[in-house]
Amino acid sequence: MCGIVGYVGSHQAAPILLDGLAKLEYRGYDSAGIAVFDGKKITSHKALGKLKVLNEETHGGATLPGTCGIGHTRWATHGVPSVRNAHPHFNSDETIAVVHNGIIENYIKLRKMLEGKGYQFQSDTDTEVVAHLLDYYYDGNALHTIAKVIERVEGSYALGIMFSDHPHHVFAARKDSPLIIGAGENGENFIASDVPAILKYTRNVYYMDSLEIASLSPDHVRFYNIDLEEVPKELKTIEWDLSAAEKGGYDYFMLKEIYEQPKAIRDCMSPRIRDGKVAIEELGMTDEEIRRIDRIYMIGCGTAYHTGVMAKYIFEDLARIPVEVDLASEFRYRNPICNAGTLVVVISQSGETADTLAALRLAKDHGLKTLGIVNAVGSSIAREADHVIYTYAGPEIAVASTKAYSTQLIAHYLLALKFGYVRGMVSDEQMGDMVRQMEELPAQIDLLLQSKEKIQKFANRYLAAKDVFFLGRGQDYATALEGSLKLKEISYIFSDAYAAGELKHGPISLIEEGTLVVALLTQDELVPKMVSNMQEVISRGAFVMAVTNVDHPEVEKTAQYCLYIPKTCRYFTGSLGIIPLQLFAYYIAIGRGLDVDKPRNLAKSVTVE
Ligand code: M6R
Repeated sequence: MCGIVGYVGSHQAAPILLDGLAKLEYRGYDSAGIAVFDGKKITSHKALGKLKVLNEETHGGATLPGTCGIGHTRWATHGVPSVRNAHPHFNSDETIAVVHNGIIENYIKLRKMLEGKGYQFQSDTDTEVVAHLLDYYYDGNALHTIAKVIERVEGSYALGIMFSDHPHHVFAARKDSPLIIGAGENGENFIASDVPAILKYTRNVYYMDSLEIASLSPDHVRFYNIDLEEVPKELKTIEWDLSAAEKGGYDYFMLKEIYEQPKAIRDCMSPRIRDGKVAIEELGMTDEEIRRIDRIYMIGCGTAYHTGVMAKYIFEDLARIPVEVDLASEFRYRNPICNAGTLVVVISQSGETADTLAALRLAKDHGLKTLGIVNAVGSSIAREADHVIYTYAGPEIAVASTKAYSTQLIAHYLLALKFGYVRGMVSDEQMGDMVRQMEELPAQIDLLLQSKEKIQKFANRYLAAKDVFFLGRGQDYATALEGSLKLKEISYIFSDAYAAGELKHGPISLIEEGTLVVALLTQDELVPKMVSNMQEVISRGAFVMAVTNVDHPEVEKTAQYCLYIPKTCRYFTGSLGIIPLQLFAYYIAIGRGLDVDKPRNLAKSVTVE
């Protein structure tokens, strides 16, 4: 979603804004703009398309002199991608500039009210109402004015604001959309949607809470609540390096992140294993509390939801707790049946996904215990959930999630083992054995990654595929869902995943001569059933690529192409089965000449509903 950067200090602002926006490109955008205050007036420039255009048209920012500014990459929600809808937006005499991430839900009503008072709008955006509303309420006091505007607007927002009456000041406000404040050491301060935008300049950040306002000058950062009482805030240090958010020799972030999976898994797993047993200290739940859990809701969107689907099979088997999996966008409008023994697990890489955050809040409103499985440290979900397990995948930049998925799976394994053990379903011996096998996963993934050429060769045969089907049963169905999402989101080839038993109830009518079917067969007891399903589609002309392990010669006999994964405990096969599917999707997209990291219409972090 949109990216925001703001700077106030002694250096030229525009090059810093352009550089910061470039670090936020991964969020997805269709236009960009910057506004700089030169001591007398605010000047701006906006461009449609890639940042390169804005960079060229402003000569790297040189045409906009000044040491205080705000910048924005826009991912269109209200109004088509165009220069006039790009941010910053202004009041009529251009003395107030605004950049915004989020959606102002009551903007039509506010726009009508403002138009009735003579305000003229230049764009179709919801954001422009904020600029005019600031003008409408402006009384010379910036904080006072912003607080009044916040009382009037409904929805979600991260705002960066400049007033020409307040030189050397940038203001910020947020509700439900991410925004951090970077505290520089040499008389400069920053605002940003995410850490990579400012990491070159500072590691010291403040996380703003919802309904807070910040005022930044070169030598101060102050925070206020909606009543304009100053709020004390703790400075946090970012522990990871910028190199973690750079390509490091890989052509695309996605490939780098695929290759980072063994390390990410180790980082997620190691701190939670002691003496061959799972020990999750930060869980903050007593054994008694774990024993009292009688229902779990797994909630997430996209890839995170798919790890929830996988977790259902594992938790129900290992811990004997009933699990319901729900898409956050559905759960948030349900009236969930729950009691004191219900645990709601919300899963999110970014920790900022609007639907997942809303689902978490709904659960809390029902008085339910909540646990976040989150990657982004300090994100909204991490701060609002009762308990948090960080996945420690490091920054994930590519829109298509890979290492976040793999580490979310590890978090589920750890939790399911812990819950199963505490509830007496997993013995000491089983625990030791499963932990040992889990610890082998990074090396096994390394091994799988070595066969990338084989997968690339196969992918090249299907660059022109019209549609691809992914089939699996049990846990393999969860992997099929994720494999299908990876392919469609970056290659734009239609694909769908089915629980293989459902084939005969409709989807088989879609199979025709040459249709590619990817079949997952990693669950030993389900292999015979899956072999029948493969035969059914092959006899209707499909070409089947199977992902399995070496123990099943009958699979090799039936499928036209086989990829093998190493043997592991039946609960962990999903961690291995997904690797060839990630590579397959990647190489198809590369072969089709697509921008793998920034697929069309998608944003990394979906902070609006
Ligand atoms: O940040 P989150 O994990 O909450 O994001 C959820 C989905 O938007 C995300 O997994 C999305 O489906 C990815 N593009 C999948 O690769």
